[in-house]
Amino acid sequence: MPQKQIHLAVGTGNILGASPYAWLDPGVDPTDYTDIHAVMRYAQTAERGNFDFIFLGDFLAQTQRSEAHSPNQTLEPTVVATAIALATQRIGVVNTVSATFKEPYNIARVLKSLDVISGGRIGWNAVTTSSPQAAANFGRTIEDRDTRYARANEVIQLVQALWGSWQEDAWIGDQDARRFSDLSKIAPVNLQGDYVASRGPLEIPPSKQGQPVMAHAGASPYSHALAGRYADILFSEVFTIDEARRQREAVRSVAESAGRNPDGIKFFPGVMPTVATTHVQALTRRGTLVEPDIVQQVHHLGRLLGLPLGPGDLDGPLSTDQLSIARAHPGDPRSAKALEVAREGWTVREVLHHAVIDYHPSPIGSPEVVADHIQEWFEASAADGFLVIPGVLAEGLNSFVDGVIPILQQRGLFRTEYEGETLRENLDVDRQYGLHRRPRPR
Ligand SMILES: Cc1cc2nc3c(=O)[nH]c(=O)nc-3n(C[C@H](O)[C@H](O)[C@H](O)COP(=O)(O)O)c2cc1C
Repeated sequence: MPQKQIHLAVGTGNILGASPYAWLDPGVDPTDYTDIHAVMRYAQTAERGNFDFIFLGDFLAQTQRSEAHSPNQTLEPTVVATAIALATQRIGVVNTVSATFKEPYNIARVLKSLDVISGGRIGWNAVTTSSPQAAANFGRTIEDRDTRYARANEVIQLVQALWGSWQEDAWIGDQDARRFSDLSKIAPVNLQGDYVASRGPLEIPPSKQGQPVMAHAGASPYSHALAGRYADILFSEVFTIDEARRQREAVRSVAESAGRNPDGIKFFPGVMPTVATTHVQALTRRGTLVEPDIVQQVHHLGRLLGLPLGPGDLDGPLSTDQLSIARAHPGDPRSAKALEVAREGWTVREVLHHAVIDYHPSPIGSPEVVADHIQEWFEASAADGFLVIPGVLAEGLNSFVDGVIPILQQRGLFRTEYEGETLRENLDVDRQYGLHRRPRPR
């Protein structure tokens, strides 16, 4: 068995699936949209598959684009995480909370509470929200990137300082001595930055893993700079092994120059698999999620391939003439894959059914095909873990747990039982309590 093991997370989206059209699937109950018991059942399925954690995204603005489209999410994710924590024993939950619009005291308090309640299974995905609609929901406007990341730096430091403001051995609980805690070990943090400030302390003792694991999502040098300093997990949207390796190396190198062990940061590209017994069945399944947007997608495909494509081209393959002038658009990393699939002779509609225009790589086919994708990226040092994002959660999660995970286990690449009780133990990331004392905090 190889020493290094793959880590796996599942993105539950709005509980229906990552596709805005998941709710139209005949196997989906659209009322799951607000059903916390459905969330709990999915979490239990993911735990049956030994996933490291469930990823809960957060979008602070309206996301529904049309009446046929479901919103990206519904219930507030830290509330959802509480229910998941109570319905499961080992799986972690990584919660997205905006470092742009939330105050550090609130973030620290909610997430450490969750970490205590869950027995040390919580992570914080600190994102730098860039949506003007989200800003409007807080009566603000979007700041430039430098400002958003400078604020995020301060917010993370403050949150971590607040987490450490109740020292690990401060709780006494001695009824005879009438000493609840040692107040000399529960001290204000008194931090004042350019953007945020807090006095502290936070009256919450350590969780079983001390404090939540840190995550960040993004692919820019700004994200690498932030994640390299603070994060245990970096999520990325990346389409090729070469680019994933480059990003993974970039964040590991920042971690190293910040005085950290680069193996302490786990790089998680996204993957949107569709699993079925045969390639054609998987293609049909994926195709139902693509069809509602097929007209926009065919124009988009034309731009990716440098061809004037429209709805009239959908039901035939690209002609020899079209293929001879088609070229992968250098500005879009999905183009090369789109061209490769088009050259296989599929109709244009079927090319699109291969999900060549999606947010993450989308392996389609038997469980082996999906396991091969994961293994190939992992063995090429392009990933430490994967954020698995099913288009339709009900079907996608089950088929991954029952089809793909046993193959990864047989290949010795994935655990057959949890290594530990906490998220930190299962992810194999360093213990940390309070703020890291690193050479260059900003
Ligand atoms: C896998 C993945 C998941 C993400 N999830 C969220 C999310 O739930 N909420 C959010 O506001 N942004 C999310 N983002 C967006 C990033 O945090 C970030 O805003 C984006 O990459 C743009 O970065 P910028 O701030 O450098 O412009 C996600 C990004 C990736 C790659």
